[in-house]
Amino acid sequence: MKKEFQRTLVTSALPYANGPVHIGHLAGVYVPADIYVRYLRLKGEDVLFVCGSDEHGVPITIRARKEGVTPQSIVDRYHKIIKDSLSALGCNFDIYSRTTSKVHEKNASAFFKKLYDEGKFTSKESEQYFDPQAKVFLADRYITGTCPHCGNPDAYGDQCEKCGSTLSPEELINPKSKLSGAQPVKVKTKHWYLPLNEYEPWLRDWILEQHKEWKTNVYGQCKSWLDAHLEPRAVTRDLDWGIPVPVDGAEGKVLYVWFDAPIGYISNTQELLPKDWQKWWKDPTTRLVHFIGKDNIVFHCIVFPSMLKAEGSYILPDNVPSNEFLNLEGDKISTSRNWAVWLNDYIHDFPGQEDVLRYVLCANAPETKDNDFTWKDFQQRNNSELVAIFGNFVNRAVVLTQKYFGGKVPADLKPEQIDMDTLSQIPACRERLEDDIENFHFREALKEAMNIARIGNKYISDTEPWKVAKTDLDRTASILNTSLQICADLAIAFEPFTPFACEKLRNILNVGFWAGTDHRSGDGSVDPSHFGVAGTDGENFFAPGSGRAIHTLPDGSPIPADMSNILSWDKLGGEDILPAGHQLGEAELLFQKIEDSVVEAQVKKLNDTKAANEAAAEKLVEEEAAKKVEPQKAECTFDDFQKMDIRTATVLSAEKVQKSDKLLKLTIDTGIDQRVIVSGIAKTYKPEDLVGKQICILANLKPRVIFGIESKGMILMAQQGDGKMRFITPAEVLVNGSIVG
Ligand code: 2FM
Ligand code: ZN
Repeated sequence: MKKEFQRTLVTSALPYANGPVHIGHLAGVYVPADIYVRYLRLKGEDVLFVCGSDEHGVPITIRARKEGVTPQSIVDRYHKIIKDSLSALGCNFDIYSRTTSKVHEKNASAFFKKLYDEGKFTSKESEQYFDPQAKVFLADRYITGTCPHCGNPDAYGDQCEKCGSTLSPEELINPKSKLSGAQPVKVKTKHWYLPLNEYEPWLRDWILEQHKEWKTNVYGQCKSWLDAHLEPRAVTRDLDWGIPVPVDGAEGKVLYVWFDAPIGYISNTQELLPKDWQKWWKDPTTRLVHFIGKDNIVFHCIVFPSMLKAEGSYILPDNVPSNEFLNLEGDKISTSRNWAVWLNDYIHDFPGQEDVLRYVLCANAPETKDNDFTWKDFQQRNNSELVAIFGNFVNRAVVLTQKYFGGKVPADLKPEQIDMDTLSQIPACRERLEDDIENFHFREALKEAMNIARIGNKYISDTEPWKVAKTDLDRTASILNTSLQICADLAIAFEPFTPFACEKLRNILNVGFWAGTDHRSGDGSVDPSHFGVAGTDGENFFAPGSGRAIHTLPDGSPIPADMSNILSWDKLGGEDILPAGHQLGEAELLFQKIEDSVVEAQVKKLNDTKAANEAAAEKLVEEEAAKKVEPQKAECTFDDFQKMDIRTATVLSAEKVQKSDKLLKLTIDTGIDQRVIVSGIAKTYKPEDLVGKQICILANLKPRVIFGIESKGMILMAQQGDGKMRFITPAEVLVNGSIVG
């Protein structure tokens, strides 16, 4: 941390509470943010980690309408799912709140009011689409119509999902309201705008000159926005879900979701620390870091900083790390196509294996380019890295210590050069690890952590303590002492990445650890139970894994005084961590092998989704084709028509024509006679479907011999664009032979 900073406030993008989070969100935002925070805490830095659900916006209202429930019930449902699943993955927020909280409503409203009172907004009347039946203004997503580019009849007012074109509602052919089906009309409405154009010179200097260190993808996106010049941006919307605009003449209007959501970071801090929050937001010695998704860059680098600048009393982000996108099995992750691995499903399907997902998403993170998640890679990284390298090394060291030394750390009785050479590699790993994490290169950082395990694995394989023990227990003692020191290093180095395994490892090594100051119980001005934080008391001993402060080991016994607070970042690669004679805990496996059948089941789930998507797409194509109507034929005269003798008739019997799979032989009563007509409808009707049915025929068609049968006339059929055909039947039964015309 640069000298001028005394503490770090880390935020991770507030996920929309209109669905669960998936691996794309995790790889892009939540896993890297949590790694970063755990690392800083382990270093003893003062860190606050803030997140929560983003509960406003149009998609939530659309979902609510679709399900026939209130928007509040949608956000209640998903807030809980998201909060629980992120917590199960070990995301160690100090607070995870929501933008429907009272604190936030008050805060966002006051933020707007201050800018309004100080004349920081402009206002403008413009014409916007309005649903005259539902009597509401329509966001672009609420308008559908035919895409002018590809003819998709279900394109949205902002985008055609079929051809990918960006659209405006004006471009749609036959626009319709999604709410009522009515044709939208344009009505004048007033909105308030943040004049981003006025902030452009300042933004250019602040980002392009003063923050050249931002990740290239973030910096590059900001530069293109700024080079294209900024326009005033509306910060209010006509919608019935959101925070009401707190000024006269704004009835029925709410704050735009992208205005209120980032203020949520501030509100959630206030909720946690009602007395102390200003230190985190208004003191220039606080370093603010926003972890965000690629599609959030403009809002966090341009819009929100301009809002903060306009308000005037807040600090600005020092960095805004963002990743690229993660694909799944070679295809873009898509919520609407259900092409995703959902975190809540993962937590359900892989209990006790949360670290594996964290590990794989970090090892494979789309840090500089889009990347792909595959279940095969997931399995392989678990089995041949976590299990075979990290887990295997720890297990060998601990089991051999149990076997030869009763589970006590043996003294370094007979050191050899290889021990020094091995241990001396670790400080360099630590330096690279630190450098990588501090520069948001988490993949590389993870490789360094795994390098330490590789070093340990190689050391124990090279020194073969299980063989040495047969002849030289003193040397065995040194080998295992060295190995156990590396195990303790691993418990530190991996803590940001695989906290659950590190919790186990600390239990195996029978040590506690130091992880910075715990802010989760608030600043004492509110009841900690309000945050649902169990077992914290504002002190500084942090629990293993995803938990925090503890004063006892899992079996309830106290952490021995000299062993608590023993693992901290500064111990990594330094002097011996575990003193000789220290009693280890029980051995257990850090990671479990993942069998083929387990990943095959996941792949099957995806394949089933793909098949269902394809079937749905095919159905859509068929439906489209069915709607297609042939153009009108060339004109004919009344006389032409009159020549045709069309009349009603009834099918008396029907049978298949031998050697043909298309033809049926029908005997019909035409009112004039009984006759045979051969018709190509065997694929549409079974003979028994037709007997007794009244149909229409062209009676005077010249007879033809088909498959050796004389056919006298033709059955009239109507045929859709997709080939589906049905015979024509009068609305009620008429006398056979009645003339159609
Ligand atoms: O993209 C999203 O999921 C947004 N809900 C992120 C909001 S971040 C912040 F501004 F709240
Ligand atoms: Zn289109």
